[in-house]
Amino acid sequence: MTTYTLRKGSPATTRTDVVVVGVARDAKGGLVVCPGGEDVASAYGRKFAPLLASMGFTARSGEVLRIPAGEAVKAATLVLVGLGERDRLSLQEVRRGAGVAARNVANAATVAVALPAGDAAHVGAVANGFMSGGYEYSGYKSGEAASAPTEVILLSEVARRQDAAAAMTRARVLAELTDHVRDWVNTPANDFTPSRFADAVEELTTSRKDAGVTLEVLGVRELEELGCGGILGVGLGSANPPRMARLSWRHEAPVASVALVGKGVTYDSGGLTIKPGGSMATMKNDMAGAAAVVAAIHAIATLNLPVAVEAFAPMAENMISGSAMRPGDVIRTHGGKTVEITNTDAEGRLLLADALGMAAETRPDVILEISTLTGPCVVALGDRVAGLFGDDGPVTRMRDAAETAGELVWHLPIPERIEEQVRTESRLADVLQHNWVRWGSASYAAAFLRQFVGDVPFAHLDVAGPAWNNGAAWGDVPRGATGFGVRTLVEYVAALARPAGEDLAQS
Ligand code: BES
Ligand code: MN
Ligand code: ZN
Repeated sequence: MTTYTLRKGSPATTRTDVVVVGVARDAKGGLVVCPGGEDVASAYGRKFAPLLASMGFTARSGEVLRIPAGEAVKAATLVLVGLGERDRLSLQEVRRGAGVAARNVANAATVAVALPAGDAAHVGAVANGFMSGGYEYSGYKSGEAASAPTEVILLSEVARRQDAAAAMTRARVLAELTDHVRDWVNTPANDFTPSRFADAVEELTTSRKDAGVTLEVLGVRELEELGCGGILGVGLGSANPPRMARLSWRHEAPVASVALVGKGVTYDSGGLTIKPGGSMATMKNDMAGAAAVVAAIHAIATLNLPVAVEAFAPMAENMISGSAMRPGDVIRTHGGKTVEITNTDAEGRLLLADALGMAAETRPDVILEISTLTGPCVVALGDRVAGLFGDDGPVTRMRDAAETAGELVWHLPIPERIEEQVRTESRLADVLQHNWVRWGSASYAAAFLRQFVGDVPFAHLDVAGPAWNNGAAWGDVPRGATGFGVRTLVEYVAALARPAGEDLAQS
């Protein structure tokens, strides 16, 4: 366990194993120390920039240099983190730099972080970036896990301000819950069936019961009673039956009500419309949306945000067997709408149809849905950017929330014509699940989801790309499960709860 403290102090005289400082390039390409690290640079005097340059350090973002600190400062080792162009130094650059730093303090017991932290927003970004960037999943590795520092001191001029302390708390809560999402998503599907997922949600809810979130887990019988033919249909081919977790939390004086819905496919083989082997390998990540909404409602409750939240996490495993759903079948969803199945690999929208219908029945002010829904969205935006679809109000708020939270999203359309195709192109059923047109199929999926929210304002995040990082860790994003979406969802709700015009961006 690492303890984090926020303190005012000079990085040159703080006695820790490591001190972290940011370095950027000025307009002429020269190396300059970033705010917070000035005392370290002046301790070195005029040698500072030439020393770094002589070691080949160019302050590119993501670059890091570890050097023995020598006599100049009290810490033993200096960790320099590149933050790119000084004139373009953004909050998110600082967050990412903090993440890079966290992965480069191996073996240090105590660390002082002197990255730019001059206001509450920066304190939050440094804290959350550092906490989040050091994550590594080692659930199945024998031997000892890499050791994390025992004490991390975040140095900030504004350490004594109440808003800075609040930003720190919020960073901590978000990092903790995001790490649960990562652990769950990284757990192989053989150990994370729908019932195990539901158990994990129950354990989390019990261990955080002070926050006051209530949980109900629905099994097959209850899902049958509720007419959830989508969730049940997806689960038909699996020996591991579906579940649905419903969580709620209500502030004593809520200013808004929000329903969160997330896709919880614990493994997606594609079903009879089977995936090619290569695409199947990481399909344990197909429950990242459900994990994110569970984490988000817990964070919202822990932070006591003045809202009422209901979270819906439908869980099923998409497998193949003699009892599996077939292309050509028709299922009936919770609200009564029938769906003609054409592709068993477009399973997410089926279990979401039930969950969105149930969410809409609670008459919330808005439904926010998050799912690893379509490969085509990854084709469109790459694997670091989520697709954002839906009604204007929620889309604008979601975009602002993502920006503040430091997650990348891009608005994509739900064209009227595609929505019409969903509604009219099945000869058998009310709606057509999938039309086998390759173009715009992330929009088709979004248009399909929209059929189940009725008149409730709605936003959908397609996180098929950013929920999982196939490459090396970058910024505050580890390899494997990223926990994408938790911060954005919580920020969305936090912004609803803030009086208009008050900008307290702080996570
Ligand atoms: N779970 C997949 C989407 C996915 C792809 C998630 C890549 C993460 C990484 C989803 O169920 C699926 O199979 N979608 C289809 C969509 C198609 C039928 C429009 C796909 O990606 O081919
Ligand atoms: Mn699929
Ligand atoms: Zn899927």
